[in-house]
Amino acid sequence: MGAGQEKEQKREQWGSKLGFILAASGSAIGLGNIWKFPYITGENGGAAFIIVYLFAIALVGLPVLLSEFLIGKKAQKDAIGSFKELAPGKPWYIAGYMGLASAFMILSFYGVVAGWALSYTFKAVTGQLAGVAPEQLENYFGGFITSTASPIFWQVIFMVLTILIVVGGIKKGIERWSKILMPILVFLILLVIIRSVTLPGAGAGIEFLLKPDFSKLSAASFLIALGHAFFTLSLGMGTMITYGGYLPKGTNLPSAALNVSIADTVIALLAGLAIFPAVFAFGMDAGAGPGLVFITLPAVFQQMPMGSLFATVFFALISIAALTSAISILEVPVAFFKEKFNWSRKKATWIIGGIITVVGVGASLSMGPWSGFTIAGKNFFDQLDWMSANILLPLGGLVIALFVGWGMKLKDALAAADFSENEVVGRIWVSVTKFIAPVLIMLVFLHSLGILDIIISFVKKLVG
Ligand code: TRP
Repeated sequence: MGAGQEKEQKREQWGSKLGFILAASGSAIGLGNIWKFPYITGENGGAAFIIVYLFAIALVGLPVLLSEFLIGKKAQKDAIGSFKELAPGKPWYIAGYMGLASAFMILSFYGVVAGWALSYTFKAVTGQLAGVAPEQLENYFGGFITSTASPIFWQVIFMVLTILIVVGGIKKGIERWSKILMPILVFLILLVIIRSVTLPGAGAGIEFLLKPDFSKLSAASFLIALGHAFFTLSLGMGTMITYGGYLPKGTNLPSAALNVSIADTVIALLAGLAIFPAVFAFGMDAGAGPGLVFITLPAVFQQMPMGSLFATVFFALISIAALTSAISILEVPVAFFKEKFNWSRKKATWIIGGIITVVGVGASLSMGPWSGFTIAGKNFFDQLDWMSANILLPLGGLVIALFVGWGMKLKDALAAADFSENEVVGRIWVSVTKFIAPVLIMLVFLHSLGILDIIISFVKKLVG
């Protein structure tokens, strides 16, 4: 206990419960909500997909989020140290190292996409975006992301902003900026929604979000929803373990996890409400895929009154959302190197942030000049995305669920999650974490590896 007390004095902490919730929500709310959620919803039939997604959040996202929070809060350590503290001598901590690897990989390409958003903010505010002919927008975007200097320039700016916030520390950096940026984000999204839903013909977009068409759902939709629940709540990488590790005693974890899940889900739905009414009002394609935000929306903005203003607001909104997420990804390795090697926060942040920026430059170049260089058929950017989202995150999430569900004593897990022993909600949470979440995660995982398809076709052959 003595050594623990000494550590406790030195260890940084959140200043308030609200600050923690805003920081964790800031981590959760990111490109996943405003760039990815709308396009996967568009591709998977709208309202029907949203229903599946809500189940995924409730059944897998929320229980695993609570599990990550409790691991960090109980151990008061970084993502790797936490497992070592709670289960000394056991191999659970390997999940922490996988998370560390994911952090490097995810932030490398995340910074590139965030750089695109930053540059589109600039292109919108200077009126450049409004000057591109609508049918040229696709080439314009393609030309930009495959060029050499420009995307790297914006990626580096974004990474420097991320590094500067993390250098500030938990309370004076991450918490302070989350408190400033999250309200701005909500304000900006409301602005875009008001514009979007008041356009003539917006009703079709609202209907798309509210009226389920189950015929558009495929088996893959379920797995996409589940995988996305992970990514959007920042799970499987130790981000929420790391953030939980800065919690003082007395923060109620179930309510914190619920608040963060609700905030993240509401913003994703609001992003849909900002985007689809406008897309439908101008007769554009809701299922445009990853280009929805960078190609389809600029065309939409061009056609609406005060379009340049709303384009600026929208891309600033994406950049802010990306920034509060990027800092949470960077904090995972920073916390680890700080604690493991006794580096100062400043040293850890600049060195690790610098390495990630350099890897990200490679990811950016792999879109264009280096696109000939592929690993297993994918360019470097796509490989980083695929490996982390489809292998490392689900595997990390699986280990976290198994650790809390099976590796910890039932009594300890309930107590660490602030449930009293006979509380029904606590019992339900433990059962979900023990059985349902691992099975569902396994399915996503097997699907990603293509193994599920092999099993399904095998079973079909047996039956037919
Ligand atoms: N949740 C963020 C988003 O939706 C991204 C993110 C931040 C993340 N930290 C993470 C994803 C950790 C996976 C793991 O954009």
